Parts: sequence; structure tokens; C-alpha cells
Amino acid sequence: MSRLLHALRILTLALVGLASPALPAADQPTALITGANRGIGLEFATQLAARGWTVIATTRNPAEATALNALAKARPNVTVEPLDITSDASVSALAVRYRGRPIDALINNAALLERPRAQLLGTLDFALFEKSFAVNATGPMRVTQAFLDNVAASRRKTVFTLSSAAASIQMVTPPAVYYPYRASKAALNMLMHNLAVDLKPRGITVLIVNPGLVDTRGVLTRKPGDPIPEEFAPVMPAIESGQLKLMTTTDSVTGMLALLDRATPELSGQFLNFDGTPLPW
Ligand SMILES: NC(=O)c1ccc[n+]([C@@H]2O[C@H](COP(=O)([O-])OP(=O)(O)OC[C@H]3O[C@@H](n4cnc5c(N)ncnc54)[C@H](OP(=O)(O)O)[C@@H]3O)[C@@H](O)[C@H]2O)c1
Repeated sequence: MSRLLHALRILTLALVGLASPALPAADQPTALITGANRGIGLEFATQLAARGWTVIATTRNPAEATALNALAKARPNVTVEPLDITSDASVSALAVRYRGRPIDALINNAALLERPRAQLLGTLDFALFEKSFAVNATGPMRVTQAFLDNVAASRRKTVFTLSSAAASIQMVTPPAVYYPYRASKAALNMLMHNLAVDLKPRGITVLIVNPGLVDTRGVLTRKPGDPIPEEFAPVMPAIESGQLKLMTTTDSVTGMLALLDRATPELSGQFLNFDGTPLPW
């Protein structure tokens, strides 16, 4: 009988552990990151965890987030949570779980780029416009609305949204590719700028940031004969000619965190490069 009680107690503790989000370390800021399982999002989680921040690292599919789970295992200040930014149910479930918890930096990182061919004139996939807007524009708005009170209750009060230089109308040059991606990121810029104006009275800073052209597909480390990752194919000539610079995720995120550190209300609503220089709309 006592063995049974002991087993029940362990089971209860395990369930309680599962049900309650990790508590923040005293005096350390908290970040919530969307799409933290790979690429730039994973690098944000890695660098913020190394700084000692409490990191709520979200992903659509925690069971498959091998690298992120390894990070959380190595760093007790990282908690992996499920989040699909296109789903009301998913976003509100996480918001309920973290109700009352200050979030210093809400990092809207998750996005959808998809195959270039479906985004070229002549072979446009129109369903991809809807999908791109759902993930790249509406998704970050849904997450931001759900976690606004958390951000407002924090010390840093920052919404840090990853946009793209590809969203800039003034910067469009040949080859004019990625129609749905570009349009959805331009819509995101409008939403975030609008949000910045709306949130000014609450002292919340909204940054709209281009991370640079970042090697999230292993272009820089590919061996001779390895195929070029599909997403980068349209920009490979510009990369190879030196016209475009491909950055490592480490350098991009280091730059963006320096920008996050110096975020002030004066920068709110601006469209900025990872190094803080303004970009044309
Ligand atoms: N890499 C670049 O050169 C570059 C340039 C300009 C701007 N950006 C922007 O920087 C950010 C990060 O880029 P990246 O290259 O690291 O992207 P990535 O490697 O393509 O990763 C995208 C992330 O978003 C997640 N995601 C997609 N749909 C989602 C959904 N519905 N709900 C939650 N998560 C979702 C993905 O999760 P799954 O693994 O489950 O798919 C993944 O974690 C994006 O906003 C991107 O537009 C990147």
C-alpha cells in the first residue's frame, strides 16, 4: 500500500510539474519566442538563455524539436511550449497558462517563406497568399494581442517583430520574386506600425526588424556538390557576386539583441535593420 501511495505521489508531482510553467529567475528578464525550434528563433533562445534570461521557447511541435529540447535540458531557464500562431485555441491556451507573468520581450519570429517557384509570376500558388498572410501577418498580431498584458506588466515592455528587407516597397529590385512572402511581410509592417501608435500611451515599444540575409539553411557550410537550398536559389547569384551578404545566425541575433538592449520608445514603430539602421518602407 505504501508503495502504491509513493508511486501516486511521484505521479502527482510529475503532473504538477508538467502543468505549471517554469518560474523566472529573480531579476532576470523574460522572453517569449515564436518558432524557436530552428533558425533564427533557436539562436534567440540559445543566446538569451546564455545571458540568463527566462526563455519561453515556443514551437508548433515540441516532440520533434530536438535541438530546442537539448537546449532546454542543458539550461533550466528555458521552457519549451507548444504554439501554433495561426490557431486561436493554441495561442489562447498558452496565454492562459502564462497569465500574470511579465514578458519583457515578445519576439515574433515565426514565419513562412515556402518554395520560390510557387511565388513566381506565372506559377503563383494563390492558396499560398492566404497561408502566408495567416502566418506572417495575422499570426504575430494574434500572439501580440494575447500577450499584451504580459508585456505591459514587464520592465522592458518590448514587442520585437521579425520582418524582412523583402517587405520594403522601395527596395524591390530584380529579380522580383516571393510575391506572397513580400506582400505578407509588408502587411506585417503596417500592422506593427499601427500597433506601435496604439500602444504608445501604455509605454510599449514595438520594433520591426530585418534580421539581414541569414544562413538558416546551411549555405555557408555546404560541401562541394551539395545542392543549393531551394529557398535561397533566387538570391544565390547576388550572394555569389558579393552584392548580398549572407550572415550567420549567430551574428544576426547578436546584432538584434544589441538592438533589443537599446530599444527605447523613440524607436517604436520604426522599420530597422538588425544593426539599428532605419530601412525605407
Ligand atoms: N533567414 C533569413 O535570411 C531571413 C531574412 C529576412 C527575414 N527573416 C525573418 O526572420 C524570421 C526567422 O527566419 P528563419 O530563417 O529562422 O525562418 P525558418 O528557418 O524558416 O523558421 C521558421 C520558424 O517559424 C515556425 N513557424 C512556421 N509556421 C508557424 C506557425 N503557424 N506557428 C508557429 N511557428 C511557425 C517554423 O516552425 P516549423 O519548424 O514547425 O516549421 C520555424 O520554427 C522570420 O520571421 C523570417 O521571415 C529571415
